[in-house]
Amino acid sequence: MTDLGIIGAGHIGAAVARVATAAGYTVTLGSRRGPDGLRALAGELGATPGIPEDAAREGELVLVAVPFSAIADLPRDALAGKTLIDATNYVPWRDGAIDALEKDRTATSAYVQGLYPDSRVVKAFNHIVWSDIPKDARPAGAADRRGIAIAGDRLESTTAVEVLVDRLGFDPVNIGPLHQSWRIQIGSPGWITNYSADEFAAKISEAESWHSHPINY
Ligand SMILES: NC(=O)c1ccc[n+]([C@@H]2O[C@H](COP(=O)([O-])OP(=O)(O)OC[C@H]3O[C@@H](n4cnc5c(N)ncnc54)[C@H](OP(=O)(O)O)[C@@H]3O)[C@@H](O)[C@H]2O)c1
Repeated sequence: MTDLGIIGAGHIGAAVARVATAAGYTVTLGSRRGPDGLRALAGELGATPGIPEDAAREGELVLVAVPFSAIADLPRDALAGKTLIDATNYVPWRDGAIDALEKDRTATSAYVQGLYPDSRVVKAFNHIVWSDIPKDARPAGAADRRGIAIAGDRLESTTAVEVLVDRLGFDPVNIGPLHQSWRIQIGSPGWITNYSADEFAAKISEAESWHSHPINY
């Protein structure tokens, strides 16, 4: 799988596009601006500019890097059958509070899976600052290689995202199914930190009792 679609061409979308094209992926970048508005950026990144639907159709894997307020507006039909990599973070004061997330503490990526039942959601790239992605990407085996956590319910998709993470320069850390992905949401011990895969796995287990705590935004 070397066709990557990216919906959202801001900080995180562009950072992933940069390392993905360098790693040999064919990247289609889509956002509200559309092909004309994205042409210069996409040219610099070595990607093809488009609308969100183009990114969803062209990518075997589709990274979603839009504000959570836009999470329900993705091209549902084009995303059907695709692995949807959810890089978003839910920030209620920024994105608007969502009842299911506030009351039930549903993991945000499980909520996204509910919005797109015909896609296979994998959470990844949400806990790393955009500028660290090109800066910290390292070849496999490098002593200072960082870990990037992923969570998902479907083996085929989590395996594909593990391969992507590795090829982009990071060690994948599979933390389990989507309902466990609260462990890498904002406020978790592993969020916006610089850990190796082993350190990350240890931090994730420290999060064992965090689930019942109020989310600290
Ligand atoms: N910034 C980080 O370091 C970082 C790290 C990890 C995760 N995240 C998460 O990733 C998400 C994106 O963050 P960001 O910092 O990259 O944001 P950003 O720089 O503001 O970029 C957001 C992008 O989303 C696009 N967009 C907005 N609404 C859209 C819609 N309805 N359909 C399609 N595209 C839409 C925008 O398109 P236009 O440009 O065409 O308007 C823009 O390209 C957020 O959920 C954030 O929490 C961010």
